[in-house]
Amino acid sequence: GARAAARTSALAFSPIPPVPASVDDVSVPAGYRWDAILRWGDPIFAKAPEFDQDNQSAAAQAQQFGYNCDYLDIIVTDRKGTRAQLVTNHEYTNENIMFPPGTDPAEVVRIAWAAHGMSVVELRRRHAGDVWKYDRTGRTNRRITLETPMTFDGPAAGSTLLQTAEDPRGMRVRGTMNNCAGGTTPWGTVLSGEENFNQYFKAGGTDPREKRYGLSANGDSRNWRSVDSRWDAVSNPNEPNRFGWIVEVDPSDPRSTPVKHTAMGRFKHEGAHVIVNGDGRVVAYMGDDERFDYVYRFVSRDTYRAGSSKKDLAHNKTLLSAGDLSVARFTGDGLEDGVSDGAGEWIPLTVDGESVVPGFTTEEVLVFTRLAADVVQPTKMDRPEDVEPNFVNGFVYVACTNNSDRGKVGKEGATEPNPRNLNKDGHVVEMMPTRGDHTADTFAWNLILICGGPETAGTYFGGWTGPVSPISCPDNVTFDSEGNLWVSTDGQPGTLKLSDGLFKVPVAGPERGRVQQFLGVPRDAETCGPVIHDRDGSVFVAVQHPGEDGTWGAHTSHFPDFVPAGTTPRRGQFAGPRPSVVQVTRR
Ligand code: FEO
Ligand code: CA
Ligand code: CA
Ligand code: CA
Repeated sequence: GARAAARTSALAFSPIPPVPASVDDVSVPAGYRWDAILRWGDPIFAKAPEFDQDNQSAAAQAQQFGYNCDYLDIIVTDRKGTRAQLVTNHEYTNENIMFPPGTDPAEVVRIAWAAHGMSVVELRRRHAGDVWKYDRTGRTNRRITLETPMTFDGPAAGSTLLQTAEDPRGMRVRGTMNNCAGGTTPWGTVLSGEENFNQYFKAGGTDPREKRYGLSANGDSRNWRSVDSRWDAVSNPNEPNRFGWIVEVDPSDPRSTPVKHTAMGRFKHEGAHVIVNGDGRVVAYMGDDERFDYVYRFVSRDTYRAGSSKKDLAHNKTLLSAGDLSVARFTGDGLEDGVSDGAGEWIPLTVDGESVVPGFTTEEVLVFTRLAADVVQPTKMDRPEDVEPNFVNGFVYVACTNNSDRGKVGKEGATEPNPRNLNKDGHVVEMMPTRGDHTADTFAWNLILICGGPETAGTYFGGWTGPVSPISCPDNVTFDSEGNLWVSTDGQPGTLKLSDGLFKVPVAGPERGRVQQFLGVPRDAETCGPVIHDRDGSVFVAVQHPGEDGTWGAHTSHFPDFVPAGTTPRRGQFAGPRPSVVQVTRR
């Protein structure tokens, strides 16, 4: 009706042309503008020092916005739409472009710990629809780093597999890292996925459990163990078991202790997205981002309380502590019908909270989830990243970013759900729970997008046959208020020689599958955390790792300060790139 049309027009746009990978700017549609609302190093407390990367310290970084923002949400906290909280992950650090030569290596490591983790920062503006400004005096502002105390909960909390000399009870852990994507829960907390934790440890590398998680004897190029022996997994073999979890953070309470939920399993968690099922139980969908790894589902034991009292919030914060984990198998119905589609089932790893995997205790299922899942033969997917339910149609969308190893000698070849060998461009799966029940054992599925450019073989755009924007390496997905899918990408410079970007894709109606590019990010960056506030006329992205292929003094990106070459940066500015959160609004 008219109201729907008004909403659509608030974000109407003509797709932008594909952006060459060399463009060092944020590209937006005609009639739109962009603003960097938070940049790496911005002070987020009243007493925090101004950003000065020539004289950086760990103490300063711990009071400033962290590096490589990834998951993003903008949680509006008042009725007028003039106050909000920005919550973001800081996935990793690019030391090659962060530090002047000669910086003390031990301080580089400590700064990196402080630049990892998460940020919560309050935003303000005069009127709905305006550009947000961050408030460095916000009461709930918070940095979460690798030194922030956290607890374990769920069935594996206290397990001998989590115990270390520093934490003999296996109940507490210092910090979180490699926080990739995430999701905001219906009760207002934020879930954050610990992804490639293996790259920070030196391990023996011969234990099959370590190998299955990519832990090796020579993979820790940051050499963190030179500053803290916990990163030496040869002498602290259980420390890696304390990472690879979903972390729940309550942004409303800056003194709350973040929780790592062992009931949700341990793998290279891209993120987790929760939907309240019809029966009140909550269901979390999760991807394990590795070539040939799996899509998972967690179903809570207890039911959601819709109230917003302190008691309701306290109850809802226990929902991810007890429940059951399962893993997806996708079966194709044959390609004779011309489309990749079929039926699927959720194979249980636990039932009533107990292991049903032969040879695995419950604790082992949760701590070594990948090895437990291997036993029950789920479908090996092409790097499942975001897995997110669409609240408008109740379907679930899986971004399979790519898999350059599919079909190589000794590796599994193309299957109907992963239909291309040497899959460099990725695809997006649409899953339809049986009877709309997210706890059902079965689902139907199809590939709504098989990505690529005009020259790419095997592309498919939901049945749409008109022009589309080229798209490759889908990574994060989200939805606008009408249920349109929005996809951000990570890898287009390598596959299409184009900048990564953000794309709108209708999933229903005559334009189903019509990919339309909304935005492109600066040089070397990936597009993360898309947030679509279409009724507000705003789109937000996290610009991650701009200029990552450069070096200090030979930066390939100057986003977002764009300090002119040969001039001295003004106070608080930086000549090189700064990962930043960008808001796009109408001019
Ligand atoms: Fe950190 Fe799977 O992207
Ligand atoms: Ca088929
Ligand atoms: Ca990602
Ligand atoms: Ca990625």
